[in-house]
Amino acid sequence: MARARVVVRLTPEASAAGAHAGGEPRPATREAAWHGVAVDVLRATSTLTVARGNGAARIVPFATPDAALAYRGAHPDALACGEREGRIVPGFDLGNSPAEYVRERVGGRTLAFASTNGSLALLDRRGCGRRWLGCFLSASALLSELAGAEHVAITCAGKEGAFALEDAACAGWLVRRLAEGGAEPEGDEARLCASLAPRDADEVRALVEGCEHARYLGSLGEPYARDVALCATLDALDRAHEF
Ligand code: MLT
Repeated sequence: MARARVVVRLTPEASAAGAHAGGEPRPATREAAWHGVAVDVLRATSTLTVARGNGAARIVPFATPDAALAYRGAHPDALACGEREGRIVPGFDLGNSPAEYVRERVGGRTLAFASTNGSLALLDRRGCGRRWLGCFLSASALLSELAGAEHVAITCAGKEGAFALEDAACAGWLVRRLAEGGAEPEGDEARLCASLAPRDADEVRALVEGCEHARYLGSLGEPYARDVALCATLDALDRAHEF
């Protein structure tokens, strides 16, 4: 049997402007047999993992806030969610803090989600047959889901087209453990990420809390610092979720 393959993109392939605007899934491609993973540790995929765990029914990613608002206009039951510069977008129902996505607020709801970088990572893997939210909160649970996959394709959100250490390290945590299970990391990005993989919960926390975006979020105030502390917790949740 062929060895499973794991590939990584350090940033989404398409910028906000070029990305599929959002809405319904892309037409079937060769990726249809792949397991796609979108990673935005701070904070989008951590927040959306909490949201799905609290019963959010569906996530529809958008590259721009206007597209998410237009979707809510056409689907009044949907919630417009996300951020710009870390703060809630005017007119949105929810920002991008995991603390806001409680069951009473998101249970059974569709989330029209537009964040700066995380949304683009979700859009980047929309052609995959299975589409997973990747973050440290549910890393081991996701690893179990990916264990039998033949092809895993990870996209790191990065930061406005640039490298983000926390995302590459999270992708690396998955790549290293999939490789221990016999998978083949393909390409320099996958190998680079594997070399950045934190070994345990303490290393995860030190890496995430020390990165650039964590410092920016901390500068916005205590609630944001609490978000960083949560997103830096390895395996706080025992279920991985799809988008
Ligand atoms: C993003 O999608 O760019 C981030 O999740 C931003 C944030 O931390 O809110």
